[in-house]
Amino acid sequence: MEVRAYAKLNLTLDVLGKRPDGYHDLRMIMQSIDLADTITLEENSIGALQVRTNLHFLPDNEKNLASQASLRWWEAKGVPPRGLNISIDKKIPVCAGMAGGSSDAAAVLRALNQMEGDALSLRELAKIGAQVGSDVPYCVLGGTALAEGRGDLLTPLPPLPKCWVVLCKPEFSISTPALFAKIDSVRLRCRPDTQGAVAALEAGDLHGVARRMYNVFEDALPDHRRSRVNDIKNILIQCGALGASMSGTGPTAFGLFDSEGCAREALEQLRDLSGEVFLSQTV
Ligand code: C5P
Repeated sequence: MEVRAYAKLNLTLDVLGKRPDGYHDLRMIMQSIDLADTITLEENSIGALQVRTNLHFLPDNEKNLASQASLRWWEAKGVPPRGLNISIDKKIPVCAGMAGGSSDAAAVLRALNQMEGDALSLRELAKIGAQVGSDVPYCVLGGTALAEGRGDLLTPLPPLPKCWVVLCKPEFSISTPALFAKIDSVRLRCRPDTQGAVAALEAGDLHGVARRMYNVFEDALPDHRRSRVNDIKNILIQCGALGASMSGTGPTAFGLFDSEGCAREALEQLRDLSGEVFLSQTV
């Protein structure tokens, strides 16, 4: 079975506080885009779990979130794992704030479940996903959703009106645990208006959503990293983006456009910076 694992963007991201379990309570609007990894699952007769990717530095063992997801699925089903080859063709940048690894895990959960006759419900898959990573439940669901708690309390939202998305991942990566640790000591100067963005989604108002996009992790970046993210956001806005923000713990920054021409112009200008650039659409 071949499935696509879509990248996610944070239209808003707010950190509400630290929890007794060490995680943070979040409130954020998540959105799937058509930038995707392709995952192939194939049963094997040797009875082993094998995972491989096109990126040599990613784990090819049980540390890979896709492997963990498959093992958790068998565990939840209460039967011993069958032999499975998982092959992942990565297109989503790694350590970029776009939930690439979580999306691969979610895609494996959905695909394995389908191969095994839809044994578990979407809700059950999301619950298994939460054991693999905080973003996995959302990735099981996909689309436009409000995520709260650790990121696993999900409320589906009306879809973001059709638009173009231009993304740029600078050449450096960010450690998610390190940035979460830092956010506790940062005085947040600005918070996103997630409630207003939800109301704008309900009204089908793309401009209203784009105007309200903000991610508190931008304030926790070291100065030189923040200025690179700001350079990208400035180019996006100058080219006509309706709004621009960083996704997850970064460093990918993105802009929403209602004009394909403006989006393509932004893409060209961002190609002159070092980093990876993409033109995408929402899913
Ligand atoms: O759940 P996941 O393994 O994806 O989280 C990676 C790290 O991000 C956690 O170890 C934790 O440091 C941080 N995190 C957090 N609060 C969340 C989600 C993640 O502190 N809600």
